[in-house]
Amino acid sequence: MKIGVFDSGVGGLSVLKKIKEKIDFADIIYYGDSLNSPYGSKSVEEIQKLCLEIGEFLIDNRVDIIVIACNTATAAALDTLRERFTSVPIIGVVQPGAAIAIKESKNRKIGVLSTPLTAKSRVYEKAIKTINSKYEVFQKGCELLCPMIERGWESSERNTELLKSYIEQLPNDIDTLVLGCTHYPLIREDIEKLIGNKKIIDPAEETAMQVLFELNKLALRTGFKKIKKDKIGIDYFVSGDIEMFRKVGERFLGEKLLNVYQPLIG
Ligand code: DGL
Repeated sequence: MKIGVFDSGVGGLSVLKKIKEKIDFADIIYYGDSLNSPYGSKSVEEIQKLCLEIGEFLIDNRVDIIVIACNTATAAALDTLRERFTSVPIIGVVQPGAAIAIKESKNRKIGVLSTPLTAKSRVYEKAIKTINSKYEVFQKGCELLCPMIERGWESSERNTELLKSYIEQLPNDIDTLVLGCTHYPLIREDIEKLIGNKKIIDPAEETAMQVLFELNKLALRTGFKKIKKDKIGIDYFVSGDIEMFRKVGERFLGEKLLNVYQPLIG
């Protein structure tokens, strides 16, 4: 079995990491569209077009499932991708993130840090309120974070101040903070230092659970035997700067990224 995972760059590695921890019988193809990053300041139409191209690439590479490891792409293109590619399940990160945030929040006030597009789409508010309308959701778009993480974020006083300026724009009485951009788990420690005892939600964990659930369903349906691999194969396709991707990715994953290629699209 093969899992296709994509993001606008390195952020989706936070989802890949959790998938790797939970699934040992499937290989992974990761697509990082860093040439077109950041998605968060593009139009919905532009993002849909890019996601359709990536979807084709993954389907051509025979994946059994597509994971949109990007909140912005989930907000802009989940439905579009599901309409176009009907042969495989397609999973986004917002629904899993919303479900866990609801479980964790006690005072029903949830904050979400995300890209400007995700914040503007109010996708988390909609997902959370669909499950339970009694929750309040506050979203803050953080324009500068994704590009800075993509280039290799350094923990510094200046960057802490920037993070603080975003967090301070959320109400102080939220008890739960969703990392509503898959790049943000890469700087989780810096965020944690600034939010006191609020709970941090990283949708990646629950997303990986959903991927496992879908693959189990598929295995049952097709009679596929899930055999544990000693080491799953991961191929990385990066549309932009491969060396930068490798550097930031290796730092986050704590391992060498061996098979990194430039795709023919992008
Ligand atoms: N990791 C993407 C997300 O979760 C970042 C999107 C961007 O490129 O702006 O939204």
